[in-house]
Amino acid sequence: MPDIKQPDASIKIAPSILSADFARLGDEVTQVLDAGADWIHFDVMDNHYVPNLTIGPLVCEAIRPLTDAVIDVHLMVEPVDSLVEPFAKAGANIMTFHPEASRHPDRTLAMIRDHGCRAGLVLNPASSVHWLDHVMDKLDIVLLMSVNPGFGGQSFLEGTLDKIRQVRQRVDAHIAQGGQSIDIEVDGGIKIDNIGRVRQAGANAFVAGSAIFGQPDYKSVIDQMRAEIARVDADTRNA
Ligand code: DX5
Ligand code: ZN
Repeated sequence: MPDIKQPDASIKIAPSILSADFARLGDEVTQVLDAGADWIHFDVMDNHYVPNLTIGPLVCEAIRPLTDAVIDVHLMVEPVDSLVEPFAKAGANIMTFHPEASRHPDRTLAMIRDHGCRAGLVLNPASSVHWLDHVMDKLDIVLLMSVNPGFGGQSFLEGTLDKIRQVRQRVDAHIAQGGQSIDIEVDGGIKIDNIGRVRQAGANAFVAGSAIFGQPDYKSVIDQMRAEIARVDADTRNA
């Protein structure tokens, strides 16, 4: 019987700094962590793989000294491999990439781990879960996009819920066969009113940009998100 008073350490709230005030980025990172965030989600866009241009290793290096928290680098770039070493040196802890953007996803995953980071694939709304089939042993995380990548502030695509369930089944089967544990993270359009359903479908890490940085009180949003997660977890336990 799990101790329900203990917070579940596998739950990760990962604010996307894409929606932060870039003129005050350091303060925003510190504030959102003080408000209870677990990871900093760092969206890298190259105006090639996605139609937007954001931040690179120099910005990662600049925020690294502010915190020991995990910096979760989401690479929306093509090609991928040439950015692995720069981001590892800049202090990234997790690197995820879109398999369509790498000529050799298996090699890219291994390269990320060789640089001391946790590695993962990102699946777009139209990308098949079969991308995971032959690389399960090289994954530390799977990131499921619940919007098309490129912009913050889009609406959550409901079809993601079924995909989360499919990935949860695959991950649980992998663990049952003695495999390593793999985080399931969801990114795009996550708000207080849908995070419970994302949790119920099987995710344990939750990216939220506009929902958190769009409100004046970050702690209030993060607390409400955790409360929603705890509520559906309690329902599941009592079912
Ligand atoms: C989209 C990015 C997301 C985005 C999330 O391409 O990967 O991380 O910033 O922002 P919201 O939560 O506003 O959808
Ligand atoms: Zn992202």
